[in-house]
Amino acid sequence: MTVFDVAVWKDGKVRMLDQRLLPTEERYLEFTSAAGVAEAIRAMVVRGAPAIGCAAAFGVAVEAFRLADSGTPASWPEAMAEGMRLLRQARPTAVNLGWALDRLEPLLAGDPVDLPQRLLREAEAIRTEDIASCRAMGKAGAAILPAPPSGRPLTIMTHCNAGALATAGYGTALGVIRAARERFGEVRVFATETRPFWQGARLTAWELERDGFEVTLITDSMSGHAMSRGLIDAVVVGADRVAANGDAANKIGTYGHAVLARRHGIPFLVACPLSTIDFKTPTGLEIPIEERPADEVTHVRGLRIAAEGVKVFNPAFDVTPAELVTALVTERGVVHAPDAIRMRAALKA
Ligand code: MRU
Repeated sequence: MTVFDVAVWKDGKVRMLDQRLLPTEERYLEFTSAAGVAEAIRAMVVRGAPAIGCAAAFGVAVEAFRLADSGTPASWPEAMAEGMRLLRQARPTAVNLGWALDRLEPLLAGDPVDLPQRLLREAEAIRTEDIASCRAMGKAGAAILPAPPSGRPLTIMTHCNAGALATAGYGTALGVIRAARERFGEVRVFATETRPFWQGARLTAWELERDGFEVTLITDSMSGHAMSRGLIDAVVVGADRVAANGDAANKIGTYGHAVLARRHGIPFLVACPLSTIDFKTPTGLEIPIEERPADEVTHVRGLRIAAEGVKVFNPAFDVTPAELVTALVTERGVVHAPDAIRMRAALKA
């Protein structure tokens, strides 16, 4: 499996693959401040909930190194607080961002002498743990997938990119798909293109193709037809935030695929690490939904496709109600038919 430097620490800088240029160009960018990393998250150089969490953690560490180099210790606390603030507000829906910052924040109160090193160690731990979580949830998810139908390999549909590119490595939904291939020998994937940012077309199809999968790209509007013709055996997606009752926010369009999956009796799995589960948010209604710039809808790679002056609604995420989720897959195991009681019993530490 190809390993990407989605958000890593290299030579005292935060290094990220610029996902906006994929699949045509593989270019890496380096960042030396929290403000730079925050802007990279906002602009979607790096995207995907767990990857955003890792990037933010390295952003805090690099800010501490930058301040240590600048040699004005009296101003560090305010500068660190400002860096945290910029990172925290970069994107609102993926809870992993705030989760990673909350994990680093207590370290700021300790001895300033080795603060940068301590922050970096914690950021590295977040990254390593994320890879292990993806591997564990991959196994757990693959174990509950239906057996392949006779005559063809199991075919899984996924939406957006919840792969190695969206995590520290291996992927959540694509982790389940990778583990399913280990279980069944061969698995085929239908990837939805994922308007308006094209994560499915640009990222998922590319990532899986590189990993030797047979991938079929469809437009988002083709999923109902594909399901009605018996081409899809399961849908597996990731999540940006799962509320305490199991409602799952994920890339815009996910909700529609979940409704269609239920209509056709197809299992609909949501795979995410515990860091994506937000027990402080009771239901999906309270999940903040990011709205992104209008030109993501009116333009495709700089080319205008809609009349000037039209109004645009561009929510980046929607919420799939828990009742449509067949199973929530985490590194701590599977919650079948998630609801508030089952979520708490299975996942709350
Ligand atoms: O806007 P994006 O590309 O950050 O949205 C990403 C998704 O919706 C993913 O499905 C989600 O973050 C899960 S990533 C493992």
